[in-house]
Amino acid sequence: PPPLTIAIDGYSACGKSTLARALARRLGYSYIDTGAMYRAVTLQLQRSGVDLDDESAVASTLSETTIGFRPTDNHVLLNGVDVEDQIRGLNVSNMVSQVAALSQVRRAMVDQQRRMGADGGVILDGRDIGTVVFPDADLKLFVTADIETRIDRRLSELLSNGQEVRREEVAANLKERDHIDSSRADSPLRMADDAILLDNTHLNLEQLVERGAELVAQIR
Ligand code: C5P
Repeated sequence: PPPLTIAIDGYSACGKSTLARALARRLGYSYIDTGAMYRAVTLQLQRSGVDLDDESAVASTLSETTIGFRPTDNHVLLNGVDVEDQIRGLNVSNMVSQVAALSQVRRAMVDQQRRMGADGGVILDGRDIGTVVFPDADLKLFVTADIETRIDRRLSELLSNGQEVRREEVAANLKERDHIDSSRADSPLRMADDAILLDNTHLNLEQLVERGAELVAQIR
């Protein structure tokens, strides 16, 4: 079968990257974690101490920043250096939605995502994949789970990675990001008209992957 382009969008910590990674592995496709790209840019802007309101300072940081993924383990590379651990903490999580709301940041990331996905055989997850990045994707999934489920999952993920966080901090961060991501002017998070809704509140992640694999099989 011809290589497909699969778009997976949804709210923060809804299970979409677990789904995307597992489906990519099964299909032998590449997986592009677009959230990791926004997180890496955020880390770079934090390090350079740039004021986000200063458009030309943001532009110059962007022009000196390259984002990539290491092929062996998909870790995100910032200027060639593995920053996978640094981008997952609350430091970055608490600022990433402000950065991702900037149009010049989005333009740069979307251009790169389109280049990386141009040949198909790819699964991208994010907030605007089915609406903006690949509006003609072969399959669009929109993943949701109720907020308490998402908080619990993200909390245990962070704790098992050795991060010291409290449930209230995680809850506040997810709610804040959902709000900013859905209400921003440029490419707000929304379900594409032709996306399939996958609510996994009452599924475990394994069942979610099974459901996704069935949907892929139907169009292949
Ligand atoms: O997917 P993840 O939760 O790691 O994404 C981090 C943040 O990056 C999101 O909260 C959102 O602000 C931004 N993002 C985005 N568009 C995407 C992917 C992520 O704006 N396609």
